[in-house]
Amino acid sequence: MTPIKYHWITLGPGAVSGLIASGLCDNGESVSVVPRHDRAETIEWQLVRAQEKNNYKASVTQLPIPKNSVFIVAVKAFDVISALQHITALEGFDKSMPIVLSHNGMVELPKALSQLNLHPLVTTHGAVKSTNGIICIEHRGNGRSWLEVRQEESEPWSPLQQAFPPLVLEQNISQRRWLKLIINCVINPLTAIYKCENGKLLEDKWQSQIISLVNEAVAVAETQNVILDANMCHREVLKVAKDTALNSSSMLQDIKQQRRTEIDKLTGYLIKTGESAGIATPTHQQLLNEFQKRYA
Ligand code: PAF
Repeated sequence: MTPIKYHWITLGPGAVSGLIASGLCDNGESVSVVPRHDRAETIEWQLVRAQEKNNYKASVTQLPIPKNSVFIVAVKAFDVISALQHITALEGFDKSMPIVLSHNGMVELPKALSQLNLHPLVTTHGAVKSTNGIICIEHRGNGRSWLEVRQEESEPWSPLQQAFPPLVLEQNISQRRWLKLIINCVINPLTAIYKCENGKLLEDKWQSQIISLVNEAVAVAETQNVILDANMCHREVLKVAKDTALNSSSMLQDIKQQRRTEIDKLTGYLIKTGESAGIATPTHQQLLNEFQKRYA
């Protein structure tokens, strides 16, 4: 049987979706882009990795969209709903089409969107996008990724695994999503408030606050039936801070560039979820207060 040829549609491209789209283009996959604003017929971007620069070009998605389309949506948490609404309104969209969805934090979706064929993706790759005349995506650190898939599905994931390695397919990635949430709820607000690089958080003076932040978050995760070991989470926070020691977190970059931050979908989500389940999160609340005092 000839394997089905999929058509990959990416939004943007942003940092993560651009990284994935570049890998798909390298492997000769059919890729198009739904630009958020642009009206050009083709979208060009440059991928910078290990001092190597490569240029890419993909056409703007033609309507109606092809039947074998798979979407790659990697956006800021506060853009998830509008991004999904945007693609579901495209002519030819069918709600059985797979949508790979990657974002920081947690987003509560309206019922109609939560019933789409969504596949959460968690990635630890470090990538930054800048737009200075040309879209430039800088791959700053190799990582790993996990995609939630259903048991009966194997396709269309092998082209994605080849384009964006290493990509592990799992039936439930809730633990990984919560671990990433915890890492982001520690590193992002602290580095944004104290305007420091991630590596600073390895210093002893931060550890008791980090441990409280982790313990409270682990207790909230448990109310969502996600059981995590607090020591392991603390080690992971420190590992990410070490691996990305010289990087500015995405929240610090947002603050520096006066962009909207994801604080509501990170710390805000954690506090709200804790409140609904009767779990107090005073250290996160304190961090949120401090954040709002500085950046309100
Ligand atoms: O949002 C970020 O900046 C990243 O997810 C992380 C892991 C905190 C590293 O900077």
